[in-house]
Amino acid sequence: MKLLITGGAGFIGSNYIRYALKEHSEDRIVNLDLLTYAGSLENVCEAAQNPRYSFVQGDIADRAFVFGLFERERFDAVVNFAAETSPLRPSSPYSSSKASADLFVLAYQRTFGLPVTVSRCSNNYGPRQFPEKLIPLRRRQTRP
Ligand SMILES: NC(=O)c1ccc[n+]([C@@H]2O[C@H](COP(=O)([O-])OP(=O)(O)OC[C@H]3O[C@@H](n4cnc5c(N)ncnc54)[C@H](O)[C@@H]3O)[C@@H](O)[C@H]2O)c1
Repeated sequence: MKLLITGGAGFIGSNYIRYALKEHSEDRIVNLDLLTYAGSLENVCEAAQNPRYSFVQGDIADRAFVFGLFERERFDAVVNFAAETSPLRPSSPYSSSKASADLFVLAYQRTFGLPVTVSRCSNNYGPRQFPEKLIPLRRRQTRP
């Protein structure tokens, strides 16, 4: 298979490339990465020695560039790891209220030195969750 790995110079992507080259001896990999603050070619220096690997610097948001790459390389599959931490851009009153709470806390940290941690994890799920959440329960559950 010929794979396009995007964001392969980052943490997860570079580990994936190392794994794919080792475990799938027929795969050829093109790593497309913009090399933002988080990307580094040092993360893929081992892969760079492998003739089944090549690197292209570019932006996945650059439509013409990506189309050209696809036409040239004819990939069988794409694995996307390209990502960047974005400024807060809430799109609903609910998410705005969450974002403003973060900003209140960060203002206290900046102005008064309050030790704080802001964690923006994805939704949690598991035992005792209410069924309306991200991954609903199979059977109907009522609140205790
Ligand atoms: N780190 C984790 O623990 C973890 C766990 C689960 C899922 N993820 C997800 O995996 C993905 C990668 O995470 P990571 O920790 O490897 O991030 P990272 O910041 O280490 O790597 C992101 C890579 O994407 C590249 N990139 C950013 N914008 C780009 C663009 N426009 N075009 C091309 N390349 C671009 C960067 O240069 C960098 O090499 C993210 O979607 C993240 O949410 C991460």
